[in-house]
Amino acid sequence: SVISVNLKETTNSSTSQRIPGAIIIGVRKGGTRALLEMLNLHPDVEVAKAEVHYFNIDENFHKGLDWYRAQMPLTLDGQVTVEKTPGYFTASMAPARMWSMNPAVKLLLIVRDPAERLVSDYTQVLHNRIQQNKSYQPLEELLLRRGHINLNYKALQRSLYHQHLARWLAFFPRKQFHIVDGEALIRDPFPELQKAEKFLELPPRIMPDNFYFNTTKGFYCLLSAGHDKCLDESKGRPHAPLSNEAFQKLCRFLRLPNQIFFRMTGQTFDWC
Ligand code: A3P
Repeated sequence: SVISVNLKETTNSSTSQRIPGAIIIGVRKGGTRALLEMLNLHPDVEVAKAEVHYFNIDENFHKGLDWYRAQMPLTLDGQVTVEKTPGYFTASMAPARMWSMNPAVKLLLIVRDPAERLVSDYTQVLHNRIQQNKSYQPLEELLLRRGHINLNYKALQRSLYHQHLARWLAFFPRKQFHIVDGEALIRDPFPELQKAEKFLELPPRIMPDNFYFNTTKGFYCLLSAGHDKCLDESKGRPHAPLSNEAFQKLCRFLRLPNQIFFRMTGQTFDWC
């Protein structure tokens, strides 16, 4: 937030690092970076730039709350600290640990068609493996075993949103979650940001002209105080190929899990 950075320069003595008031818990490849950067347009929001991985990785969790707080940006009284770690959503210990830290923390979950999410997840892993000179398998080999959906495939498990959300709802009430429609955020970020501002009880400060559609990137980019910012090239890259037949099989498989997720959240999404 450019305005608050300026404030910080002048009133440095009243800033401190605080635990987050709101956390983007996932989903991986749902648009978590876009949501974080867009919330950061708000002058009353400060974000942890890097993913923190505190509640999901034992080694970090055992460093304790002071370590966690030290990962946070400086804030003034009244500003909200936000961090995002997509791995929280699917981490078995994360809900209990987060609840113990602050049972009133606001939870932001950005979801996306879980079939598209799976392909995006595979694409990310593929890019990482290629970069590290590691071998890789085609998506179809991982997704299907003897023609059936392979339930052991991790990227499939991460797309079973209802199973993960159920663990979170055992600790936090539904009203403490705000679910952002990842596809809607891609199509038109501003309305989604307005809803998120309301949920965070922030005054409306994010404006339509904070966003412009960048035809080269094929996505919305951010404008703030004369600065222009697009997400990096790992966001919005072409997906690895998957046959239409396999994709349709995946869609059919996800129909029931998706229905359960809709019932749990009281929200429906236009998924395959
Ligand atoms: P794809 O790369 O599959 O298109 P995350 O930050 O959670 O990893 O999510 C990445 C996804 O954010 C991208 O997935 C992309 O579709 C989505 N996204 C949403 N808004 C975006 C934006 N304005 N610019 C780039 N990517 C955006």
